[in-house]
Amino acid sequence: MRDTRFWYLSPLAILVLAGLSSVVIGQQAAANQPAYLEVYVPANARLTIDSAKTQQTGTLRRFESPPLPPGQGFTYRVKAVWDVQGNEIVSEKTVRIVAGQETKVDLRQDRQPDVVYVPTPQEVVDKMLELADVKKGDVVYDLGCGDGRIVVTAAKKYGVKAVGFDIDPDRIKDSLENVRKNKVEDLVTIKKADIFTQDLTEASVITLYLLPELNVKLMPQLEKLKPGSRIVSHDFDMRGAKPIKTVTIKPKGEVERDHTIYLWKIPLEKE
Ligand SMILES: C[S@@+](CC[C@H](N)C(=O)[O-])C[C@H]1O[C@@H](n2cnc3c(N)ncnc32)[C@H](O)[C@@H]1O
Repeated sequence: MRDTRFWYLSPLAILVLAGLSSVVIGQQAAANQPAYLEVYVPANARLTIDSAKTQQTGTLRRFESPPLPPGQGFTYRVKAVWDVQGNEIVSEKTVRIVAGQETKVDLRQDRQPDVVYVPTPQEVVDKMLELADVKKGDVVYDLGCGDGRIVVTAAKKYGVKAVGFDIDPDRIKDSLENVRKNKVEDLVTIKKADIFTQDLTEASVITLYLLPELNVKLMPQLEKLKPGSRIVSHDFDMRGAKPIKTVTIKPKGEVERDHTIYLWKIPLEKE
């Protein structure tokens, strides 16, 4: 019998991750071993594994699979959702569990941002989206969304779906507040996540205001985008990928300086 659903086994609510064949268990009982998964979350988090709700509560949630053949593994998307002062925080990761091994994943982790928060002036935001030629049907991702100004502008000005990712809980709060203030909750999603662990393939437009080396680090993820997808970066280039356009503007503001915007299209043209 094969069962790939989640099972709740005991009063401790041990969740079986992936039921494997009882035939296999019968044949190789001695060699087979369970895989274990420990997930750390805020105590009030709702946890799903591959979209299936789990029942456990508390900070540490432990799951065990049925005995699996040596080396057998499965990949899951674990996602925790919790509320902080009325704001919904989402933290998710992909994990691999393997027979005989214990995998730990911490969805509470507040890893330090790779770059400090500096907002893009609104005039530059407008130019970035214009340069990316955002139009109906596009999905805009801002990687490191700060106060959410790029995704909010994309939704308000172009009526497109947009997702903002940030690793800093304070920026997530700012973004959620901005989304609410501008009433674009139906179009904009804000995710607390490390951008380097995310699947970006749903995006057709990516906006960046990071650092040159972070742009380069993102290249393997960006190269998986659909052909024709556009990437715009405020101030920083991406060594190894030739921009199809570069524009410099000097917006009015407290500190007047030139801001450069780089535009690339998928597939990236190598330098
Ligand atoms: C220079 S700010 C840009 C903010 C916004 N995109 C804008 O242009 O106004 C960079 C943002 O990236 C976030 N960040 C840094 N490292 C990150 C990471 N690994 N994953 C997600 N966000 C990150 C920071 O918290 C910060 O809010």
